[in-house]
Amino acid sequence: MHVLVTGGTGYIGSTAVEILRKQGYEISILDDCSTGHADCVPEGLRFIEGSLLNTSDLAEALEGVDAVMHFAGKSLVGESVDKPDLYHSVNVDGTRNLLDQMRIAGVGKIVFSSSAATYGEPEVIPILETAPTNPTNPYGSTKLAIDHMISRESAEQAIAAVSLRYFNVAGALTCDRGWLAERHNPETHLIPNVLRSTHANPVKIFGTDWPTSDGTCIRDYVHVIDLIDAHIKALNSLVEGVHEIYNLGSGGGYSVRQVVEAASKATGQVIPTVDSPRRSGDPAVLIADITKAKAQLGWTPTRGINDMVADTLASFS
Ligand code: UFG
Repeated sequence: MHVLVTGGTGYIGSTAVEILRKQGYEISILDDCSTGHADCVPEGLRFIEGSLLNTSDLAEALEGVDAVMHFAGKSLVGESVDKPDLYHSVNVDGTRNLLDQMRIAGVGKIVFSSSAATYGEPEVIPILETAPTNPTNPYGSTKLAIDHMISRESAEQAIAAVSLRYFNVAGALTCDRGWLAERHNPETHLIPNVLRSTHANPVKIFGTDWPTSDGTCIRDYVHVIDLIDAHIKALNSLVEGVHEIYNLGSGGGYSVRQVVEAASKATGQVIPTVDSPRRSGDPAVLIADITKAKAQLGWTPTRGINDMVADTLASFS
């Protein structure tokens, strides 16, 4: 099967490329490298350096393709609060273009990177796929708009689609080209920031007065290798005219302080931290109910928070 990986030079997309490639899939990558890194692309692989906002780039990328794994997009909660129009343009308009070009090219299969941010502040924990969707930031709103767009496309054009609602993705994958890991600039994600914390530049703890047991936000962390395993299972579960939505997390949560403790255990050092105000757009607690992905995709995450911290740490060396 020939899979177009949009966003294939980013953290999660490049990990997907590597695992798909190892499993014998034919791959093409479409990425504008605005946040990704062209040096992630394996030698000899078909790479279109282009944008979702350019229809000729999309048409070229879709040539000969059977299915799309759609990772490309803007993905930072905080940035989306400052730049909502950018998020709408790249994520929503970009995906509209992709779906239009898929129709023209006769490509009827898509696995989409959706997000737990679609749910907003949940009423019930753990969160089921049927929970209300009230995003608390523009990033989540764009992911929800795309999920709705894909549902309509599936009903009207009979495409086979899966949206995977990621909780907090972490960890790294080592391969013949070194580590595929988070290389964001600036880095906003908790685990790399905690591991890079120094006395001169301590990691900020965003909010210590949340309604949780230690006052810090709770998130559900899932290893990027487990996450891609779910994508491949989703790809092989696609049914024409059906759009399924699955949560991908671990089913359990860690507070920010618990993540700091896990990092401290991994490094053998006390991690310097500084209590800071809440970050705009953050919900207090996000934990996935992953019963549906387990039952229907036969997926079980096998790596825990200590693996995610250890692999991220190893990727720095
Ligand atoms: N945090 C800190 N200090 C930091 C970085 C983060 O205290 O330096 C806190 C945040 O406030 C939050 C938690 O750590 O409570 C996790 O924050 P991240 O920035 O690592 O991740 P987010 O939860 O904001 O968002 C991530 C992805 C989104 C996805 C969401 C789903 O970036 O794309 O998980 O749960 F939607």
